[in-house]
Amino acid sequence: MTVIVCPKCAKKHNISADIVKRKLPSAKSFIAKCKACHNRFPVSIDQLGEKEKNVTVEPDRKIKNQPARKLCIALSKGGVGKTTTSTNLGACLALAGYKVLIVDTDTQGQVSYLLGKKPKSGLTELLTAELEPEEILIKARENLWLLAGGKSLAGVKRIIDRKSFGAEWTLHEAMKPFEYRYDFIIIDTAPGWDQLSVNVFFYATEVLVPVALEFMPLQGLSEFLKSLGSIQRYRRDVELKYILPTFMDARVKGPQEIFAKLKQLYPEYICKPIRYSESISEAPSFGKTIFEFAPGCNASADYRELARKVTLDDSLLL
Ligand SMILES: Nc1ncnc2c1ncn2[C@@H]1O[C@H](COP(=O)(O)OP(=O)(O)O)[C@@H](O)[C@H]1O
Ligand SMILES: [Mg+2]
Repeated sequence: MTVIVCPKCAKKHNISADIVKRKLPSAKSFIAKCKACHNRFPVSIDQLGEKEKNVTVEPDRKIKNQPARKLCIALSKGGVGKTTTSTNLGACLALAGYKVLIVDTDTQGQVSYLLGKKPKSGLTELLTAELEPEEILIKARENLWLLAGGKSLAGVKRIIDRKSFGAEWTLHEAMKPFEYRYDFIIIDTAPGWDQLSVNVFFYATEVLVPVALEFMPLQGLSEFLKSLGSIQRYRRDVELKYILPTFMDARVKGPQEIFAKLKQLYPEYICKPIRYSESISEAPSFGKTIFEFAPGCNASADYRELARKVTLDDSLLL
């Protein structure tokens, strides 16, 4: 017998590796259901091999017994810094000791590229239930995991489309096993609106909107917020939390003026801007985060500041 511990309520369960292996001869992992709190959580078959060993499946989280904060980075417009923010905010929180999962819901699959990874599977296989969660997750860095996006998500959109019932909850349902395993789940989104973005807003609870200060962004932002408002009529748990100005260039007047206007229009959501930095656009081709590639640059300091705001922890040691 092996003892497995429910990551949610810490109830210990005796489990027989022989029985599991007989019932699931080719599986590498399975989803266990806690008898006490009914939480479902993944267990790796390898962990059952050793007799009388306590197996705690939960990574050692910084925030105990709370569901993960589910933060999506979204704006219908492309090129505003969504993927850059998902990756670098995620990396920064991981450096601060939080357990972080980045979920890439874009067919471009850029988060893997930014983290220097070439995953064979990802969100598609989770949504189609082809593989177990344990087989899909990629450990990208210490404390940082990735559920990769990519071209195959286009097929998933068609599957979601064909569902006659509850299509908008597909991602929410599939992500349940991860609810208590991470402190933060950060969801990178594609530009535009489609079935998958609707699914993201039925899963995430917080929205961060990056707004590029380079071009007139206000109309795009207000249209996006209107669409988010329509979603909120059906899903009340999702709320706008942060508006993050990006591409701030203090040498030019335009961005400063747009920033001032944003501050005036959305004072409760506005964050300190991320400054324009060459290093941000160079880092991805080395597969490095900004903290690995240019830890001393402006944008690196700005993403640290954002992590402090998101965690409400001014003393975050980074
Ligand atoms: N603060 C910044 N300074 C300079 N370049 C940036 C900055 N933020 C993002 N970029 C670059 O802008 C481009 C678009 O950013 P990206 O994060 O991919 O946007 P999105 O995901 O919204 O399409 C990328 O080449 C990225 O490296
Ligand atoms: Mg992107």
